[in-house]
Amino acid sequence: MGYYFMNINNSCSNNIPVLSSILLFILCLYNPLAISVDDTVRFDANYSPTWGRDHVTVVGDGTQVQLSLDERSGAGFHSNQKYGSGIFRMKLKLPNKKDKGIITTFYLTGLPAGQPTGGPHDEADFEFLGSNGKKFIVSTNVFANDNGDREQQFTLWFDPTLDFHVYEILWNQHHIVFSVDGIPIRVYHNFKAQIGANYPSQQMHVESSIWNMTDWLGPVDWSQGPFVAEYRGFGLDACVHQPSDPQDCHSSKYYWNDPKYWQLTPQQNKLLKYVRRNHLVYDYCGDRKKHFIECKIH
Ligand SMILES: *[C@@H]1O[C@H](CO)[C@@H](O)[C@H](O)[C@H]1NC(C)=O
Repeated sequence: MGYYFMNINNSCSNNIPVLSSILLFILCLYNPLAISVDDTVRFDANYSPTWGRDHVTVVGDGTQVQLSLDERSGAGFHSNQKYGSGIFRMKLKLPNKKDKGIITTFYLTGLPAGQPTGGPHDEADFEFLGSNGKKFIVSTNVFANDNGDREQQFTLWFDPTLDFHVYEILWNQHHIVFSVDGIPIRVYHNFKAQIGANYPSQQMHVESSIWNMTDWLGPVDWSQGPFVAEYRGFGLDACVHQPSDPQDCHSSKYYWNDPKYWQLTPQQNKLLKYVRRNHLVYDYCGDRKKHFIECKIH
């Protein structure tokens, strides 16, 4: 099985103009974050189209998928299995168009496949907001047997339309960590035992989609379309949920449940702090209209 190593030297050369020398120092000299994504896994090994099937194109020996959006339809795909824990990684290249009004997603959800909204459920989201071609914003959200509303939004330190980048959600019983190219941008801790805060603990599956969010982001200029998002890396390091033994996915026989993955390393914490200081543009914990118990600890 051939692994594609997207190591940090690669992103060093791409990102030098916008990263501070401190972050570069950590990234390039210590090189702690070599991320491997198995690019050889075929889409149909783990995933299926959910909707807009004629807007889902499988290319590259089945190892790459294009989702397209035009005035007729968007498209989405989902994992065939439901999971109870894991490290969910996808390589994603966003539409290289001025695409204000559209949204590209990669997320975990407990709702049935293809159902974007519903009652209280678990969810962990990456949502890439369409842009005017200048500023690229990724919105993250966590639902914990409720209606979410825990958005944290970040500017990206690179142009996500030029290359594939690795987006990752680690989910175990201790925390959910959102990372971009191995750099943690958000941690949602499990504070259930300490303060009774909700934490996603039901089975979830992976979904990805491209669709128009005219209501939230403004009108789409369809003359710019079609808008095409590309996905690679369809392997899954995750525990398949067994209804007969739901606790199995919390077992330490899965490496992502090991104490090593219960908290960030000091180096990862430095990177997290750096990103939050320089790239965080919205945090629900700082929103006076919202009152989440976990925000009292952050
Ligand atoms: C875009 O969104 C609008 C408003 O929700 C909807 O009426 C329309 O069908 C959508 N178009 C596509 C192509 O999804």
